Amino acid sequence: MIYQQLGRSGLLVSRTCLGTMTFGNDAWGCDAAESRKLTDAFIAGGGNFIDTADLYAKTASESILGDILTDHDRDALVLATKCWFPQAGHPNARGLSRRHIIAACEASLRRLKTDYIDLYQFHGPDPYTPLEESLGAMADLVRSGKVRYAGLSNFSGWQVVQANEAAKRAGITNLVSGQYLYNLLRRDIERDILPACRSEGLGVICWSPLASGFLSGKYRGLDKPPEGSRFDQMGKVLLPRFWNDQTVALVERMAEMADELGESIVAVALAWCLAQDGITSVIAGASKFSHLEPQLRAAELILPEAMLAELDAALPCDKGYPDEWFQIASQGTFPKEYIRKV
Ligand SMILES: NC(=O)c1ccc[n+]([C@@H]2O[C@H](COP(=O)([O-])OP(=O)(O)OC[C@H]3O[C@@H](n4cnc5c(N)ncnc54)[C@H](OP(=O)(O)O)[C@@H]3O)[C@@H](O)[C@H]2O)c1
Repeated sequence: MIYQQLGRSGLLVSRTCLGTMTFGNDAWGCDAAESRKLTDAFIAGGGNFIDTADLYAKTASESILGDILTDHDRDALVLATKCWFPQAGHPNARGLSRRHIIAACEASLRRLKTDYIDLYQFHGPDPYTPLEESLGAMADLVRSGKVRYAGLSNFSGWQVVQANEAAKRAGITNLVSGQYLYNLLRRDIERDILPACRSEGLGVICWSPLASGFLSGKYRGLDKPPEGSRFDQMGKVLLPRFWNDQTVALVERMAEMADELGESIVAVALAWCLAQDGITSVIAGASKFSHLEPQLRAAELILPEAMLAELDAALPCDKGYPDEWFQIASQGTFPKEYIRKV
């Protein structure tokens, strides 16, 4: 296993992170026994970074994980969870108010059966609560020892910068991570968020790096998802997000690449993410024990340059304006011949 510092921090995390959104999910996930097999094998394979959230399987993911971790060396692990989604019917059990952040953190600690969360993340931005209040509450959790490091998820680029400034004013050295949807089929964060995270010193950890399973190749040759599959059950969200003629063609090409390397499509997809500048770790999901092995291999897989270049060119992110303006206008203003990039 390869480990990397998370953002501008000293915290070392495995380049494959175990995603636990499937744990306890009756519809398209796995039960407690399979979750245990997955977690045990992930840790045995050198993985130390595990991601959950109070949202997942209506808190069952955290509870199952908490039970499993009592049989492991908790201090050897980097445990990440999140708050933001509603946890009760009343209006104060959601978002990023001081009241909710602290209550949600304490509930997560109880379910996870631990005294501290290594990485506590805001699951999304709260348009109604001042950032000073949210980051002030996070800073208090850090000072109390309940949280070690702070991160965020699903914030836009300008919000990352504002949140990091508010964090520093509240006494947190720096936010350490941003958790974002990123894979070969959805590269939206390259437009603004990835540059913002790089410049603010946040490591990026990618969610759905396998496009919720589409990049495993399991839907190859099908014109619609099999009944009961995750893509069938969550089709409204997942089909428009990931499934079209171009993505189907790319998976076919990736299958050829995988054969050439003697690897799986899963390993190729994850290794591509990990080769991108600013990406610290991929949060891969699994619902079966057999899913894990190629995910662990990916952390050490270096793709040949030519393959990386072909994958980069396959479904590039349209960065739009003002990037388009800059690419044209900067050629005359900063000619390559006399300005050397350092
Ligand atoms: N911050 C956020 O807003 C956010 C949002 C979503 C997820 N997340 C985090 O990201 C994690 C991963 O998300 P995800 O589950 O969408 O990720 P993913 O890695 O893109 O998809 C995981 C799915 O891919 C399939 N798969 C994985 N390995 C496979 C293998 N070797 N062979 C065949 N199929 C394989 C399985 O599908 P089947 O189960 O269908 O077989 C598995 O459930 C979550 O657990 C969670 O921690 C965060």
